[in-house]
Amino acid sequence: MPRVLIANDHGAVDLSRRIKEHLEKRGYEVNWIGVQTESRVDYPDMAKAAADEFFKGGYDFGIVNCGTGIGISISINKIPGIRCALVHDLYTAELTKRHNNPNFIAFGGRCTYSDSVEAMLDMFIDSKFEGGRHQERIDKMMALDKLV
Ligand code: RB5
Repeated sequence: MPRVLIANDHGAVDLSRRIKEHLEKRGYEVNWIGVQTESRVDYPDMAKAAADEFFKGGYDFGIVNCGTGIGISISINKIPGIRCALVHDLYTAELTKRHNNPNFIAFGGRCTYSDSVEAMLDMFIDSKFEGGRHQERIDKMMALDKLV
């Protein structure tokens, strides 16, 4: 059974629950480690928890959500080995899989999207990484954190 991890702050509780339900309908085993109430937490702490859990292994990909998706995606992208795409429509959901092959994607629970998050997730899951020159670019991208 494919496995996915979800983490979130208080700005994306309902969205994270919706994502969990949608992915379970698609046959995923979902490990939701985010907060499930509106009590305030700091998104960098949730990003760190998500990466720690992801690196235990066994996950197809992870999802991180905050109010905008921005703070938590910036935070988790600072952790070596993580490549998180902030997706905002069907086009970016498709192209990030085909070209960037991220191990995390991010959404904003307080955002108004033109496409549903469920449709974006389906597009991401059903799109295929193209490899080739895109893998070469990813290798360069992932080597950037060794420069600092
Ligand atoms: C929390 O209030 C909010 O700042 C957070 O969810 C996120 O939007 C930050 O980027």
